[in-house]
Amino acid sequence: MTRSHSTVYQHSIDNPESFWQEAAEELHWYRKWDTVLDRSNPPFYRWFAGGLTNTCYNALDRHVDEGRGNELAVIFDSPVTGTKERYTYREFRDIVAQFAGALQSRGVRKGDRVIIYMPMIPEAVVAMLACARIGAIHSVVFGGFASHELAVRIDDCKPKVIISASCGIEHGKVVDYKRLLDFAIEMAHFKPEICIIRQREQLKAELNEERDLSWKQSLLGAEPAQCAPLEATDPLYILYTSGTTGQPKGIVRDNGGHMVALKWSMANVYNVQPGEVYWAASDVGWVVGHSYIVYAPLLHGCTTLIFEGKPVGTPDPGTFWRIVSEYNVSVLFTAPTAFRAIKKEDPEGRYIKNYDLSNFRTLFLAGERADPDTVKWAEQKLNVPVIDHWWQTETGWAIAANCQGIEPGPVKYGSASRAVPGYNVQIVNQEMEVLPTGQMGDIVIKLPLPPGTMMTLWKADNRFVENYMTHYPGYYQTSDAGYIDEDGYIHIMSRTDDIINVAGHRLSTGGIEAELSEHPDVAESAVIGVNDDLKGQIPLGFLVLNSGVDTPRSQIIRHVIEYVRENIGPVASFKNAVIVDRLPKTRSGKILRGTMKKIANGEPFDIPATIDDPAILEEIKTVLQSIGYATKKKT
Ligand code: COA
Ligand code: AMP
Repeated sequence: MTRSHSTVYQHSIDNPESFWQEAAEELHWYRKWDTVLDRSNPPFYRWFAGGLTNTCYNALDRHVDEGRGNELAVIFDSPVTGTKERYTYREFRDIVAQFAGALQSRGVRKGDRVIIYMPMIPEAVVAMLACARIGAIHSVVFGGFASHELAVRIDDCKPKVIISASCGIEHGKVVDYKRLLDFAIEMAHFKPEICIIRQREQLKAELNEERDLSWKQSLLGAEPAQCAPLEATDPLYILYTSGTTGQPKGIVRDNGGHMVALKWSMANVYNVQPGEVYWAASDVGWVVGHSYIVYAPLLHGCTTLIFEGKPVGTPDPGTFWRIVSEYNVSVLFTAPTAFRAIKKEDPEGRYIKNYDLSNFRTLFLAGERADPDTVKWAEQKLNVPVIDHWWQTETGWAIAANCQGIEPGPVKYGSASRAVPGYNVQIVNQEMEVLPTGQMGDIVIKLPLPPGTMMTLWKADNRFVENYMTHYPGYYQTSDAGYIDEDGYIHIMSRTDDIINVAGHRLSTGGIEAELSEHPDVAESAVIGVNDDLKGQIPLGFLVLNSGVDTPRSQIIRHVIEYVRENIGPVASFKNAVIVDRLPKTRSGKILRGTMKKIANGEPFDIPATIDDPAILEEIKTVLQSIGYATKKKT
């Protein structure tokens, strides 16, 4: 029987304790909680306080113990190395237990941090679950970040062990992960005791005898580890995400609330059943990968897919359809940018016709706004519902979605649909007044947040409160702006801070500016996100040079581009910068990035009343036009 969305939603808001307690009953607890939601120290709400559980047990062992050990847990498909592997729940549990034992035998204990810096290979997932098994806190760093970013994370979470691989493969080239790791450790003030390196045959890494072990060596003599009963409120992982400064924020996730929310979401948001194949085509370095490649599908008893490849070029834009067909994928989740890439190379959808997709039911998109063109293209070519949903690293799972397992509503292009049960979403103005239907404002969520959302920032409780909970007391500030329409559908329009979304990857323009300022010839800089047909947005840099600089301008631009690539990483996609005489500012000295962005995108813009010299906007426009931006007329 279909439940009404409003009934389910209202229950979650009126009585979150009874709502989530019911969901928690589906999982295994060594000891039940004392209280479903400890509200004693707001805004530090704690779900299932007093409960004892283990996320790895629930994700793997539980299924084996319930007689489903021979069902498929993990499929690995790597078109870039020509590898395909399949693991049953029993096999994967045994591998994880063995590696967890290896970590224990090297002295890793509950609460120790372990950084995982790996390409998309099964060992990355094994390492995450092995940490969860023994109560170590993992922190996965996306492989597209360079050494400096890795070093910042090493210094922040001080890992006892770092797990990495000798290499990854990107666009047919071998990426030397071990070299990047060695540089990072050299740069960091904190030094890990041990590095465990998965040697891959495409490139063998040289090991430092005093510090490094190969994955195989680490397993020698190790006994399989049992699951450790952990407090529901013990941290499971730290995941760093871009903040508004160069210093990333370490989002901390708990064990109990996280597993309850993710398991619930599989049936209710995604409408998948245990035993079905669920594929999140993302990377374990991002929150989508944490939640929907690793934890949620396994907690729900689905088969998950680890894919080492890209939507195009590995080898063609039919790869996604080959995988969906070959493994009977029911639900696919990816970022709109992946579809824009496929559409660009195969606009007619000819590759889709080569595969039997009869088992494929729903496509979910998230990570950036799903542009209506892309959604309509996917609907037409695939003939399945295409569901945009909105979430953030901070929340760990969807805030707004067209919940396919409750009462699916109509699709409205450009909207991520209604608030998901558990999230009391409101639109407010700066004065904290709730705005009427259809009016644009800051999107906030009334506290307490549902389970699975962040507990705090790693070793930075004050920053957590200041960043998210202070501007609107009693609410979580999402830093997204938008409106709610007459049907309760949420429309996410923009960020209210300096975060940009590049190919579904979250970056801080402030972080890139900090790197540009390091260049000796640069006096001042600004970075904005400009529209891009493929990646949604890409960063564009503006440089003001020191007076008297005689280095050729093209050379300075080349240097800063290389500099950002070396320090932040290729993932920043920082490929364009211009040199200007000055930056547009208000009389109080604030750079008018919003106006610059509108000019670059060829959008209409008002001349801000507070600008110190309006003529500068025309200068900026002329420079931008010389590199192909700012092409539409000002109205
Ligand atoms: N390790 C090392 N380098 C990496 C990397 C990794 N794990 N991931 C990306 N990079 C590199 C890329 O090779 C590229 O380098 P280049 O400048 O030398 O070409 C650079 O970082 C930028 O990466 P990206 O923006 O992802 O561009 P791309 O050309 O490699 O791929 C898409 C473009 C759209 C196909 C790809 O971004 C994609 O599939 N995105 C959707 C899925 C997704 O991951 N979403 C994220 C969260 S849901
Ligand atoms: P991340 O933390 O990397 O998941 O990025 C979160 C940000 O991505 C959000 O704050 C939004 O700005 C953006 N985002 C994610 N999903 C969507 C969506 N479906 N629609 C619009 N923006 C989105």
